[in-house]
Amino acid sequence: MIISLKNKTALVGGASQGLGYAIAWQLAASGATVTLMARNEEKLRTLIARLPAAEGQQHGYLVVDFADLTNYKQIIEAYFSNHTVDILINNTNGPKAGTVLEKTGADYQAAFDLLFQTVQHTTALAVKHMKEQGFGRIINLTSRTTKEPVDSLALSNTIRAAVVAWGKTLSRDLGKHHITVNNILTGNFDTERLTELFEAQAEATNATTQAIKEKAITDIPLQRLGTAAELANVITFLASEQAAYVTGTSIPVDGGLLKSI
Ligand SMILES: NC(=O)c1ccc[n+]([C@@H]2O[C@H](COP(=O)([O-])OP(=O)(O)OC[C@H]3O[C@@H](n4cnc5c(N)ncnc54)[C@H](OP(=O)(O)O)[C@@H]3O)[C@@H](O)[C@H]2O)c1
Repeated sequence: MIISLKNKTALVGGASQGLGYAIAWQLAASGATVTLMARNEEKLRTLIARLPAAEGQQHGYLVVDFADLTNYKQIIEAYFSNHTVDILINNTNGPKAGTVLEKTGADYQAAFDLLFQTVQHTTALAVKHMKEQGFGRIINLTSRTTKEPVDSLALSNTIRAAVVAWGKTLSRDLGKHHITVNNILTGNFDTERLTELFEAQAEATNATTQAIKEKAITDIPLQRLGTAAELANVITFLASEQAAYVTGTSIPVDGGLLKSI
């Protein structure tokens, strides 16, 4: 199978490092024209020059802060006033770690704005063009914790589960327009975010970060963390024409970590 995303445009959230950047890189390597979103403009400007551009693509970036919903809405609305997107990768930064009762109503609201409202708003804007052209790919990066909650990730467990349910519902509505919507249940990938989570767990349990990391790896049937490129490969397939009959799914990419079937 040869995947070509030539003449496709992609918008990728949280894309200046980690999972988002790896996804953007692979989409660009497959021929898509990519717009990266993150906060650090200098980094974004450097990165778009490094993305593959064998099809003569002109990649771009958008400076956004997902944690400021009002401002985010203004920026993304301005973007969609003169851009269209064929492939939307909904990926934001994660909310703070912490247990279910220590989080306040304000914490849950902030996590809802960050993980759900930004995604819902961006998608509603992207869908107009996708419907008109009868093609679209919407891929939501969520987490395996939506199926098997992790005690120290209360905000993520809770709100990402809402994103998964919303994505499934959306897929039912958009199928007739040949637009697919899929959720990725992300496992443990070797990125800065995961290191931060290991450090938070180490502090909370009085263990070393190395011990927490080793335990996490022991729990994974494949006995290693994933690489961001491995996640990007799955997403690039879902973004392609070849994945036209895959919609409404929640696909774990986790080295077998989820125990449920
Ligand atoms: N890595 C894993 O194993 C794993 C597992 C399950 C779920 N996840 C989730 O997957 C998502 C991506 O994780 P990752 O590991 O790739 O994280 P990461 O390496 O920390 O990268 C986060 C990206 O988001 C950007 N970002 C951070 N805060 C932002 C904000 N307020 N507004 C806009 N952009 C922001 C960062 O760039 P700037 O700092 O320049 O803005 C960066 O490009 C997160 O939601 C994470 O919780 C990750």
